[in-house]
Amino acid sequence: MSSTDVRGSAAEKALDVERVRKDFPILDRTVRGGRPLIYLDSANTSQKPRQVIYTLDDFYSQHNANIHRATHELGEEATEAYEGARITVARFIGAADETEVVFTKNVSEAINLVAYSIGNATAGAGGSAAERLRLAAGDEILITELEHHSNIVPWQLLCERTGATLRWLGVTPDGRLDLSGLDELINPRTRLVALAHQSNVLGTINPVADVAARAHAVGALVLVDAAQSAPHGLVDVTALGADFVGFTSHKMCGPTGIGVLWARRDLLERMPPFLGGGEMIETVWMERATFAPPPHRFEAGTMPIAQAVGLGAAVDYLTEAGLAAVRAHEQDLLRHALSALGEIEGLRILGPTEAVDRGGAISFVLAGIHPHDVSQVLDDRGVAVRAGHHCAWPLHRALGVQASTRASVYLYNTHDEIAALTDGIRQAQKFFGTA
Ligand code: ALA
Repeated sequence: MSSTDVRGSAAEKALDVERVRKDFPILDRTVRGGRPLIYLDSANTSQKPRQVIYTLDDFYSQHNANIHRATHELGEEATEAYEGARITVARFIGAADETEVVFTKNVSEAINLVAYSIGNATAGAGGSAAERLRLAAGDEILITELEHHSNIVPWQLLCERTGATLRWLGVTPDGRLDLSGLDELINPRTRLVALAHQSNVLGTINPVADVAARAHAVGALVLVDAAQSAPHGLVDVTALGADFVGFTSHKMCGPTGIGVLWARRDLLERMPPFLGGGEMIETVWMERATFAPPPHRFEAGTMPIAQAVGLGAAVDYLTEAGLAAVRAHEQDLLRHALSALGEIEGLRILGPTEAVDRGGAISFVLAGIHPHDVSQVLDDRGVAVRAGHHCAWPLHRALGVQASTRASVYLYNTHDEIAALTDGIRQAQKFFGTA
């Protein structure tokens, strides 16, 4: 299956933002007593185009049935729609084929699936091939200090269960990964390296392929949290050189409740199940069970069927908009926002201040004003941003701040909305008397 046919389509068209905005009904509503909604919180969750909303409505109105087990026409239609979404997702990320795509609830579940499966990798649970994945005291897992909690806590728990040691790469003051200790940190004891493709706080895009090459040289596996990069069409699993990649639908115009774990087929075949239940089995006796081949081995119980179909529609929507055009638009917004925010006295941008190897999430702190107060002033003006530690507490500690305010852009944002953000920030400074 070629990925370029989907990923590169419509690459030459510039994004028609006004047309795009018409696809998102929520952008027409007002908030806080009649103010237009200015939605700058897409790194948290994106808004949904009517094409995705229609797909969900159509699925439930016309095709709703359980998949793989209902022996009637609706069951066939639902199964076809669900498995069709898997093919669409596989193409979107350049997977070898759709059997490498496991549907999960979200990225957290995708990462936990890998961590628990490795933790369960005993000869009893998965045969001798599985046992080679097993971790023990003396083994090391390497993560980074800029991870979201979902790419930290599952590894802490796995280390507790197995006796393995957790190590991490730090960050530089300008918000890049500090790779100076990489040769020592990736060593023959390293069994797994888990890192974000793009930081949800700093926007930093990490050199995943380089880190993966180093990890593979010592025989370690590589897991990439692509929650923040997949929405921008940046995930090509071959180019990343990863063994596992997780991402989630709700940040890329799709419904909540559905995420993806991509993994190399040979690994999935060796991995024991994560959750046991219906449809993940081959045969069940009272004493034991054998398991279905991947991906179904990892999809126990009735899955979020409509949500998977909705994710397929979201991928189609982004592809039709043109991934290159979406990225070009976001880079333009990012450059504009970095420059406009850079002019505000007392504002510190966390992370790279230039739009190089960087995505469109910009976190900042304002001297003398708590991030929650900043976000409240902005919200009063209709500007939706996120404030707090963004599920990246260790990173905030490393940068010497407790919390930050984050504005994040997506395909439907405009320069005028960036102006509303900067006006609101200046208003907050006036209100709190720090300007
Ligand atoms: N990970 C999401 C964020 O960064 C929830 O906002």
